[in-house]
Amino acid sequence: MTTDVAADSTPFSPVLSELAGVEGRLNAVSDVDHPILGQTLRLILGPGGKRLRPALVLLASGCNGTPLDRRERLAVSAELLHTATLVHDDILDESAARRGRATVNTVFGNSLAVLTGDYLFAKAAEFVASLDSPAIMGVFAWAVMELCQGEMLPLSLNGDSASGHTSGVTSQLRRLEDTYLAKVRSKTASLLAMCCQTGAMLDGADDAVVSRMRQYGLELGVAFQIIDDILDLTSTEEALGKPVGSDLLQGTMTLPIIYFLEAHPQHPLVDILMTDGTPTDEHDVRQFVAEIRESEAIDRARAVAFRFGDAAIRCLEGLPASQQAEALVELVRYALSRQS
Ligand code: FPP
Ligand code: MG
Repeated sequence: MTTDVAADSTPFSPVLSELAGVEGRLNAVSDVDHPILGQTLRLILGPGGKRLRPALVLLASGCNGTPLDRRERLAVSAELLHTATLVHDDILDESAARRGRATVNTVFGNSLAVLTGDYLFAKAAEFVASLDSPAIMGVFAWAVMELCQGEMLPLSLNGDSASGHTSGVTSQLRRLEDTYLAKVRSKTASLLAMCCQTGAMLDGADDAVVSRMRQYGLELGVAFQIIDDILDLTSTEEALGKPVGSDLLQGTMTLPIIYFLEAHPQHPLVDILMTDGTPTDEHDVRQFVAEIRESEAIDRARAVAFRFGDAAIRCLEGLPASQQAEALVELVRYALSRQS
């Protein structure tokens, strides 16, 4: 299950009390008269989330004395939008488990899950609208459009290259690496960029700082997602809160899988991914996961994550020294070293 980072690690310490306020407001969102909606919201908004996005908003908005109420409202909207995307993502991926619990689509079916995601999306928009800033609302809209486009980018091997045709497979894998990075930038990093950018905007930071914060969020987001995709192969079901190898089971070509296949273009997994889209035999999946986690693909993907992490830290250089800026550097280190 996802660990409660806020409680036991340093990057969030400057905003721990604010995060407690965010938690209270998130709990209040599930407090609705509609009995089914109340149940679906409690299932997905319960404990287990890392609350990384609200922490980013709070850190980015914490330098210039902006009223706590406004910072918390923006932080809550970021977590609600993130949660909406997870509910919809679990429908698209047909995922059965998240954060160690059954998904909304599994417990309540796809229709109620779509509507729960829509409700959370609208609730997020209501919180942003309450800030009365068309510029912040514009960035929120940008992030949502990016998320949708990222989700639409196909990330699978197609069967056009004749099986066993090594050069065809290799060139497809190289193109997939670019697609992977574009997808990760849109589906994950855009939301982290939104948190950092809008936090700085709310705090009245000047344009140069706002732009650095947005870029920091983008770089951090790519690093974060690459590590996520490595952990999907190297971690445990207990730590992940979902089965190990979920990406492979869903036929999603993540960076470590792409690198593994680039090094082994004749591997039987290539044919399986090209013809069936995904391995269905659980024993096969366990075997493939074991091979990938023992391979150099993991270190190669980790090195790419570290490059994005370094780029994130460089965005912070030149900003006035503050406890918040230090925490943002720590957050990069946490993102790169986390185990779940
Ligand atoms: C998780 O990816 C999914 C996302 C980070 C973005 C999902 C975005 C959408 C469904 C579109 C926008 C939706 C709304 C409501 C505006 P993953 O499947 O790699 O991660 P996982 O292992 O956590 O499922
Ligand atoms: Mg998913």
